[in-house]
Amino acid sequence: MGKKRILFVDDEAGILDGLKRMLRKFHNAWEMEFALSGKEALKRFEEAPFDVIVTDMRMPGMDGAELLKEVAERYPETIRIVLSGYSDLDTVMRVVTTAHRYLPKPCDAETLKNLIEQAGVLRRTIHDERVRRIVSRLESIPSVPSVYARVVEVLQKSQVSLQEIGKVISEDIGMTAKILQLVNSAFFGLRREVTSVSQAVSLLGLETIRALVLMVGIFKTFNPKRIPGFDMEGLRAHMLRVAKYAADFAVFSGASKMEGDASYLSGLLHDVGKLVLATAMPGELSEIMRRFQGESRPLFEIEREILGTTHAEIGAYLMGAWGLPDGVVSAIAFHHCPSQGGETRPGPLLFTHVANALAHARIEGERVEINAMDMDQSYIEALGMKERFTTWKEERGIFLVKGDQGEA
Ligand SMILES: [Fe+2]
Ligand SMILES: [Fe+2]
Repeated sequence: MGKKRILFVDDEAGILDGLKRMLRKFHNAWEMEFALSGKEALKRFEEAPFDVIVTDMRMPGMDGAELLKEVAERYPETIRIVLSGYSDLDTVMRVVTTAHRYLPKPCDAETLKNLIEQAGVLRRTIHDERVRRIVSRLESIPSVPSVYARVVEVLQKSQVSLQEIGKVISEDIGMTAKILQLVNSAFFGLRREVTSVSQAVSLLGLETIRALVLMVGIFKTFNPKRIPGFDMEGLRAHMLRVAKYAADFAVFSGASKMEGDASYLSGLLHDVGKLVLATAMPGELSEIMRRFQGESRPLFEIEREILGTTHAEIGAYLMGAWGLPDGVVSAIAFHHCPSQGGETRPGPLLFTHVANALAHARIEGERVEINAMDMDQSYIEALGMKERFTTWKEERGIFLVKGDQGEA
């Protein structure tokens, strides 16, 4: 792989010079170009596209939001970052669907480097260019209509607590992902990661959430073509169940509140790649489901044959591009094969992996039968979690509902 190509856009030459000096030390890894306007930026793209664009917001002529809209349409696989001195809500709202990340100015070299490198790592997880394009173009993950309607209903109540809003939103995959994207986009200048929906909701505040849902319309509802063998409601229920199990097991294992929240989030989003497939690639998903029903092989194996990638990688790629915390992204990426995640202590990845296996288990009376294919026993042993898992399963077993059989 050659050097990563990065384009910086700002109407102030002084700022570009500053960036140039600050980032000079990365010249071995990056090929950097600098443009003074949106128009010039697009011209550079025509010569050769970039892997990453970092743009200012307020510029005469074409501003950052317009530029990113163009780039998103013409070069969807480019990672789009806003670097702006203005972090008022109106500004952010304008790029909420087109920018992957939002950074406040001034920004130090390390922060910028980490962000760009992180985007680079994720880019490598989807090799097929066509799939990468389709996934990068996605602005939101649609909600199930009934859930969407409930959120709208709650938001329209005159008396509503943030807690109540947090609760309905945390049961919706698309809204949770989008709201966490927003709060992790650093437009609040937050230096810490947010993994809890209720925290995200209180940071954004009631009015912002109302505006996002009711006015900006960044949340869309899912209008599925019927795909035989694929059950959207069932999938949502599965993801919600995995979220609850993962958080419960984390707490049971003595994890911190933050780890518990991250585990909930990882569980809720672990199969988000399937929603992406259903939304953006229904034809391929039909073919995958058709083969899955005829063969007794893991779904991700069939996905790899047909798409060159899996729902786990697709989900991780998109959530990574949206700036969700690393621990969550890697839990999504490796939820079927945790030993490849390089994680050596119990965390969101382990809890999500186990929760997923359990959610797919066959339950008969008080017997819980986990499919060997769903659970990596040696990984759980290596992390010293075997005993704890057994205890947890026995203690909580009676609360388990009948699992989601079939696809993992
Ligand atoms: Fe999965
Ligand atoms: Fe799953």
